[in-house]
Amino acid sequence: MKLKIAVLSGDGIGPEVTNEAIKVLKAIGTEFDHTFLFEEAPVGAIAIDKTGDPLPDATLDLCMNTDAVLFGAIGDPKYDNDPSAKVRPEQGLLKLRKSLGLFANIRPVKAYDTLLKKSPLKEEIISGTDISIYRELTGGIYFGKKELSKDGKKASDLCEYSEYEIKRVAHLAFKAAQNRSKKVTLVDKANVLETSRLWRKVVGEIAAEYPDVTLDFLFVDNAAMQMILNPKQFDVILTENMFGDIISDEASVIGGSIGLLASASVGEKYALFEPIHGSYPQAKGKGIANPIASILSAAMLLDHFQLFDEAALIRKAVDKSLQLEITTPDLNEKTDMVSTSKVGDFIEDFIYNPNDTCLNFSNIHLGQSTII
Ligand code: IPM
Ligand code: MN
Repeated sequence: MKLKIAVLSGDGIGPEVTNEAIKVLKAIGTEFDHTFLFEEAPVGAIAIDKTGDPLPDATLDLCMNTDAVLFGAIGDPKYDNDPSAKVRPEQGLLKLRKSLGLFANIRPVKAYDTLLKKSPLKEEIISGTDISIYRELTGGIYFGKKELSKDGKKASDLCEYSEYEIKRVAHLAFKAAQNRSKKVTLVDKANVLETSRLWRKVVGEIAAEYPDVTLDFLFVDNAAMQMILNPKQFDVILTENMFGDIISDEASVIGGSIGLLASASVGEKYALFEPIHGSYPQAKGKGIANPIASILSAAMLLDHFQLFDEAALIRKAVDKSLQLEITTPDLNEKTDMVSTSKVGDFIEDFIYNPNDTCLNFSNIHLGQSTII
């Protein structure tokens, strides 16, 4: 297969982790005889520095003329600490999602057996957790009208949803549940919000088309609590934009590090793949950022194009790296010598030599010994 991939690595650690995902995709291309062409374009704070615009037209054009987008991270403290900034890096990502019509953001959350001890949550609570979060991505309070009064003393953000916006993401969630444990939990705040009541009505109606799937409802405050009390109860979580943003960061604690969580954002025509973590500016250039979320986002990209064996091999390589503790410091207290690129090297190497011995890999890549 030939795929043209736009690379928008963005700010902070974005470029470092995206590089590792590209390395891994290139290895897959070689092993499975695919041609992946990568073309880079600026987005976020670096794009503002270069052009004054967090999503320059040329970047958007590139995304519209490629098969998929591989996205890094966005954000810079100089904007976070300046509430009066008119142009913000995040606007680039939001405009990109809207312009490409990426209405569904899929965030898988899994407790890896080898990492159960890394989570601050108890092993018996998280072990076996396997959740797929379907977050609506182009509506709700993120995109509603925003106002600030002239005297700067009053502000508002409008939260709007249409039946159409709810339906299209809900269908994807139900279809996903049919191939999983056949349960959808709609997370909302229907005891307070009109938009949430519309979600309940529309999703309730759609459920009738999927008789093999059970539909549950949970208020978001309760869902936040259930996520750490008993995450195993969840299969597919369906929710609106803002709740999905919050719940998915919370859920990342189950995996032991936010550096492991990948995502796919899909629409009718385009698809974008990105780690759920931010730009982690404190770590920029230090080689300590975990590239696995980005690498697993690349695996989701392959799944999207039905390259299931290829995606499975990446996941197998990731599992192996976690099992051997070839991991960055967020998951590795013992040593800080496994850098971002070492993790990528290991995963790349595994793809080329999946049947090699574990010892060989770990020794070579940790630089401890080449004797096996
Ligand atoms: C995410 C991020 C974004 C969001 C930011 C960077 C705009 O937190 O992808 O979860 O809020 O959607
Ligand atoms: Mn977020």
